[in-house]
Amino acid sequence: MSRSETADVTGAPTVTLDQAEANRWPLFTQEDEAAVLAVIRDGDLSTHRVTRELEDDYKAYFGAKHALAHCNGTAALLASFFAIDLKPGDEVIVPSATWWASAVPMMWLGAVPVFAESEPQRMGLDPDDVERRITARTRAIVVVHLWGMPSCMTELLAIARRHNLKVIEDASHAHGARWRGKLCGMLGDIGVFSLQGHKLAPAGEGGMLLTNDDALMERATLLGDVVRIWELPTPARRFAATSFGIKTRMSPLNAAVARVQLRHLNERNARRNANLEYLSAHLEAMGFDTFLPPSHVERVYFEFLVRVNPARVGKSAGELIEALQREGCDVQHPRYPLLHQQPFFTEAAFSAILRLPEGMPAPVYKADALPRTSAMNDQLLRLPSFPSAGRELLDQYVAAFRKVLAPG
Ligand SMILES: Cc1ncc(COP(=O)(O)O)c(C=O)c1O
Repeated sequence: MSRSETADVTGAPTVTLDQAEANRWPLFTQEDEAAVLAVIRDGDLSTHRVTRELEDDYKAYFGAKHALAHCNGTAALLASFFAIDLKPGDEVIVPSATWWASAVPMMWLGAVPVFAESEPQRMGLDPDDVERRITARTRAIVVVHLWGMPSCMTELLAIARRHNLKVIEDASHAHGARWRGKLCGMLGDIGVFSLQGHKLAPAGEGGMLLTNDDALMERATLLGDVVRIWELPTPARRFAATSFGIKTRMSPLNAAVARVQLRHLNERNARRNANLEYLSAHLEAMGFDTFLPPSHVERVYFEFLVRVNPARVGKSAGELIEALQREGCDVQHPRYPLLHQQPFFTEAAFSAILRLPEGMPAPVYKADALPRTSAMNDQLLRLPSFPSAGRELLDQYVAAFRKVLAPG
């Protein structure tokens, strides 16, 4: 056992090393500064070519036919819902354990999110529960690769094929993750990435929509990229003077940052992965579930979540969080409250935007739905993702976990 692993017996916190630098994110260097400065010096902060260059970078990295940059991931998700032509009353199956943008924007089009359970091995949609919730109105599934772990795509893609459903991948947490060697974001009909400031390839604010389908790209463009509508090679170009009512293109300053960040994605992902695989090995040996990927999956870590089985480790997630915080660990509850329990849904506040066909009853969302997802969420701990940590800090975390699990 190294010195930094030795549990302290005096009551002083076990974690003493600096955590601010180890967990600093995003990482900006002179390369980002120079890229932004170059755009400013060129003097075009609206339609500068750098945004197209970013789209080209995404096409090259992901092997996508089309990429459309957006001002944020929420806008890219709205564009993807518009692109698949959701109509009032259509249903879309979504996870509850995700950020709201995976579900809420579709309600502006009159579409109804139907929440399904998440499964406990990968935290993504549970394929069996998805299939149970399919009705004659179901049009699509939103798959979220939560915290960078690819969802159960074999089963979800098979369900979508069987029921003729579109698959929108919200890959906002999963830049660089792969399923059967293929990059997440390229597994369904449309892939969407948030490039918000904490993501793995951040722009500050930004979003990217990827698709190989010409028709989907055309409709996504119509929603809110007025310059690109002028360039459409089809009769849809006639809508260029109005678009469909919103404006969603990315700022070139953000695109400049996003280009640099994408260039460093693989090397920075590798560093996080190495740190979290090291920590996972220790925590698994203590009885925690660290969401290790199956052999056909390469996960990344937007955030590092750990599941506590109280019967195995003798303490609940809540007790561990308190004890680990006393040891100096930056350990928290998971960041996202479950969507189906939020007042927007349970109090039907969505009726301010959701316009359903005549006679169709409004959906009813109950906080006690999805008991398995709720139980899973209650067992989660969120740790730092240690983008720049050294082994000594990780060893101190291991020692802190050992200390709080020690009997007596
Ligand atoms: C899973 C997920 N989807 C969508 C979004 C929305 O992206 P943005 O914040 O860029 O609008 C976010 C995050 O911020 C997210 O975490």
